[in-house]
Amino acid sequence: MLVTLKQIIDMAEKGGYAIPAFNVYNTETVMGVVKAAEELRAPIIMQVYPRLLNEEVGYYLCPAIVAAAHKATVPVCFHLDHGATELEVQKALRWGATGIMYDGSVHELDENIKNTNHIVEICSSVDVTVEGELGHVGSVNDDVMGDFTDPEEAKQFVESTNVTCLAVLIGNAHGHYKKEPKLDIERVKKIREATGGIPLVLHGGSGIPDEQVKEAIKAGIRKMNIGTDVCCAFAEGTKEILADPKRPLGIDTFMKHPIETVKQLALSKIKLCGADGKA
Ligand code: 13P
Repeated sequence: MLVTLKQIIDMAEKGGYAIPAFNVYNTETVMGVVKAAEELRAPIIMQVYPRLLNEEVGYYLCPAIVAAAHKATVPVCFHLDHGATELEVQKALRWGATGIMYDGSVHELDENIKNTNHIVEICSSVDVTVEGELGHVGSVNDDVMGDFTDPEEAKQFVESTNVTCLAVLIGNAHGHYKKEPKLDIERVKKIREATGGIPLVLHGGSGIPDEQVKEAIKAGIRKMNIGTDVCCAFAEGTKEILADPKRPLGIDTFMKHPIETVKQLALSKIKLCGADGKA
């Protein structure tokens, strides 16, 4: 069933686990993650980058996500990931998104608060709530990581914006880490304390060691994003089936294997988040 960001984050907060938020890119990745969620009875988020909200891809992908979410017998939220402009947010709402991330982390605190509030207001008119970001989560290819999220600034941000959850920088980055990351778990606890327990979001979930993910969830992470691992699982599955001399010729039968490798990845991340059996 299609649910909102608020509904699904509330479930995680109540149960003390994290919702796995899978970045999806095509019908096959949608199928893989939904199959895994059904099998493990888990609530999940499917999210898309703004670059996919166009005539070329979004026109096909977004209806597939919405249809899959409606058909699913577990709660599924359709979320915009890293929306940076009002236009992107409007497009996502138009495509049926039930959760919106507005990422104003590149701006100064005041500007980030002002812009986030504007997006919260737009979204609230259609009953959709917002994930904010404070402390810019960059790429593993950046030369230096930005300043980690400051608990006092987080308090001010949360008190001023009415976001449903907050993405934070605590040693995480997007992409496959070049060396093992070291999450600042104490900071997660401090941010939770300072903000009166705002549900926190861990971006860059691909490649963080399992033990650290579990500690982060214990400390207050309630949504974990997984993007690069989804791409790799799909690419690996495709490579494997291409290498099979007996590979099927029909695209639908050929794609069964990549769908399965995405599903296997999703099964492991759902369990890691502790979301299995929660739907
Ligand atoms: P990864 O690609 O590193 O898993 O990060 C995904 C993400 O955080 C999307 O916002």
